[in-house]
Amino acid sequence: MSAQIFPVPTEVASRALVDDAKYQEMYDRSVKDPDGFWGDHGKRIDWFKPYTKVKNVSYDPHNVSIKWYEDGTLNAAYNCIDRHLEKRGDQTAIIWEGDDPADDAKITYRDLHGHVCRLANVLKARGVKKGDRVCIYMPMIPEAAYAMLACARIGAVHSIVFGGFSPDALAGRIQDSDCVAVITSDEGLRGGKKVPLKANADEALANCPSVKTCVVVKRTGSAINWVDNRDIWYHEATEAASADCPCEEMNAEDPLFILYTSGSTGKPKGVLHTTGGYMVYASMTHEYVFDYHDGDVYWCTADVGWVTGHSYIVYGPLANGAISLMFEGVPSYPDASRFWQVCDKHQVNTFYTAPTAIRALMREGNAPVEKCKLDSLRLLGSVGEPINPEAWIWYYEVVGKKRCPIVDTWWQTETGGILITPLPGATALKPGSATRPFFGVQPEIVDGEGKVLDGATEGNLCISESWPGQMRTVYGDHERFVQTYFTTYPGKYFTGDGCRRDEDGYYWITGRVDDVINVSGHRMGTAEVESALVLHKDVAEAAVVGAPHDIKGQGIYAYVTLNVGVEPTDALKKELVQWVRHEIGPIASPDWLQWAPGLPKTRSGKIMRRILRKIAEDEFSNLGDTSTLADPGVVDNLIDQRQNRK
Ligand code: PRX
Repeated sequence: MSAQIFPVPTEVASRALVDDAKYQEMYDRSVKDPDGFWGDHGKRIDWFKPYTKVKNVSYDPHNVSIKWYEDGTLNAAYNCIDRHLEKRGDQTAIIWEGDDPADDAKITYRDLHGHVCRLANVLKARGVKKGDRVCIYMPMIPEAAYAMLACARIGAVHSIVFGGFSPDALAGRIQDSDCVAVITSDEGLRGGKKVPLKANADEALANCPSVKTCVVVKRTGSAINWVDNRDIWYHEATEAASADCPCEEMNAEDPLFILYTSGSTGKPKGVLHTTGGYMVYASMTHEYVFDYHDGDVYWCTADVGWVTGHSYIVYGPLANGAISLMFEGVPSYPDASRFWQVCDKHQVNTFYTAPTAIRALMREGNAPVEKCKLDSLRLLGSVGEPINPEAWIWYYEVVGKKRCPIVDTWWQTETGGILITPLPGATALKPGSATRPFFGVQPEIVDGEGKVLDGATEGNLCISESWPGQMRTVYGDHERFVQTYFTTYPGKYFTGDGCRRDEDGYYWITGRVDDVINVSGHRMGTAEVESALVLHKDVAEAAVVGAPHDIKGQGIYAYVTLNVGVEPTDALKKELVQWVRHEIGPIASPDWLQWAPGLPKTRSGKIMRRILRKIAEDEFSNLGDTSTLADPGVVDNLIDQRQNRK
């Protein structure tokens, strides 16, 4: 592992909110006196009715219950907008940078208030009320943020589905939470290419009778299909609506949003986050992790379709009255210099992206970066997957000019906000390590039997105590919530990640230990891709594993057994890859597909993915224990095929 240590630069330390001594002091208090600590920090949010209780949590597998600030009332949109109006109504809230470099906009907090109120009134007029679910299927345009905040304002629960998901994937998510409305746009625009969002929504909605309203933002103006009485144009409806809409008073534990994420089994889970604890945690982590000071220009390149976009483009930054940049496009369009040009154009101070983007840009060489000044940058961030030290160093040296610390932030959709991370003014950095826990977070490394391991060690990562941003349940399936996170190691939250702790107490995330693949920082369940493959008429069986990929971190490796009599051709391979794209979306496309006349199984019929992973990694001599294989010949055959491909 990397031995290099990067101390906190003096300029960073001089303006930082927290130095090392303060981190230690705050951290100690946060674990010794969580009620006192979170009781104080909960006040960073404006409450309509202040809470008198802080933490009320049980991790007992027979009764998992997580409540924070349970008797307080508040509204998330009020915290992101209204409370800033007096002091910073004319300050920019969102800088929007379009796909086309000529397209941009600045939205002040006052503008944001008007847009959000109007859309909230449109939703209300269509009968959407507190507790109803609203699906948002949008490109990265300001209206996506307005939609989130309009839902929050009236107490509706939003469920954002990433614009890259297929009609089927969209329909499944809408049905699972019985959404009553969808907010989408005619098309999206990414890297100069149009994404047929409304057409996808139409296809999905054919199977979603609960949806009574579809609000459509005009983005490209292309011709689209229209369903009278269901579809309404955003611009027409909001223009006619009042720009004043009171905020619904929400209990701290009322749901704020659902976000679907992949697990190791079954269909995606609706991760449910509630209002009070989430807002406290998102805003607090945003301020401390990014050392946010008033006036800083902050850019998180994520999409609002993922949790990073929820917590660190919208809720965290806006709750803090920050200037949050929202980017519609992709890093490579019009060329590989785009990110850096946007940094210069908007004088970005903090830049937060994913290792996959860094690796892709690193491959383009230094020239696209060096064309730009990048002198406004002060802090860099990384999220979504482990960052390999080589990419870290490139990011640090070429982008950050050795001036800017990198915060490698480890967290999950389930955690609502960052759990393990450096703090810029407090933590010396080690490339590839997410370093130390945030306030209140108590990581534990356990072995396969659940024994807690001390000191420098490696094992499975659990968190022993709750933090306010934690998910509360799986929407509609509390039992699945308990089973997934609280039964493997009773009394602890199990993250699904492997982790190493070094001599300095630094944490190094080693990747998933379950059947989840992390593709370009996005989670994909192997079971989902397998289910899609076996839906094809020619496929008898499929097994999917993750394999190392230069840019994506992990790619999707599919082993496919065809029905008897079906010819294994290259054309069929292409067709199957297309099939998965169509069933789930482009992010689920297999990177490799290998024919498997048979799959390695135990005598009880369980597929031995461990062996399939090794074959995909070309580690033929290191397959581990194969004594439980029902038919060892199957493995030799797969190895032969893999070797012959080269
Ligand atoms: O495996 C970890 C990895 O991404 C998973 C969570 O994925 P998701 O819920 O989609 O959220 C991604 C954005 C928060 C984790 O279980 N992961 C996330 N951040 C890091 C990471 N792995 C290593 N280092 C990170 N900084």
